Amino acid sequence: MDKSAMFTLTYGLFAAGVEEGGKKNACIINTAIQATSDPMRMHVTMMKSNLTTQLIRKKGSLTVSVLSLDCPLEVVASFGMRSGRDCNKCEGGGFENDSNGNPYLTQNTIAYMSLNVASMIDLGTHNLFICDVIEAEKLGAGQPMTYADYRALKTGGSVAKAADKKTDAPKKKTWVCSVCHYVYDGDIPFEDLPDDYKCPVCGQPKSVFVEEV
Ligand SMILES: Cc1cc2nc3c(=O)[nH]c(=O)nc-3n(C[C@H](O)[C@H](O)[C@H](O)COP(=O)(O)O)c2cc1C
Repeated sequence: MDKSAMFTLTYGLFAAGVEEGGKKNACIINTAIQATSDPMRMHVTMMKSNLTTQLIRKKGSLTVSVLSLDCPLEVVASFGMRSGRDCNKCEGGGFENDSNGNPYLTQNTIAYMSLNVASMIDLGTHNLFICDVIEAEKLGAGQPMTYADYRALKTGGSVAKAADKKTDAPKKKTWVCSVCHYVYDGDIPFEDLPDDYKCPVCGQPKSVFVEEV
């Protein structure tokens, strides 16, 4: 099986936000998808090891902020490559609360949805939350960022620059964590990393990385 085929699926890029017991937190997800329109339902797939997941399980609700195409990489890194266990990701502001008291992003975001968890499926490493959409608002004009846009930003510095690179230069191989989509960008060639190398974002072993051209 060519696992990199999975990267041809189109995803958006979002921040899942929750407040529980006085702790506000958010993390990047690419797995928010509309399930049905009547009733309006969405589902999100969340790693059990994430603090955000654990808070959502307790609270039973969350927000999904739809990131804009011009969202800086630093914002994605800030919410997607460190845990709220080690820092307060929401201390800088740029949030408002929905009616459940869960934070949603007000910058770099074109819309948000408030979700109440209706049911949860245990997928082993992940929880799949099936949710009722109880609020949804547009926050501004602009295009949503897709996972492909994010990948282009990671490798080219900007979506436009990455698009140029695609046509002008030979394609560079990259290694991507198939669990959390972290893109390895270290100086040591990926093949030369020790066998006990782990994804710095989700802690999965080297073997779950997939070579992407
Ligand atoms: C591009 C990208 C996509 C991600 N998609 C998901 C996802 O769909 N579900 C998930 O649980 N984590 C996903 N993550 C990983 C979390 O954002 C990451 O583990 C974060 O550090 C968790 O923070 P927390 O412990 O504060 O919740 C993604 C990260 C990135 C960079």
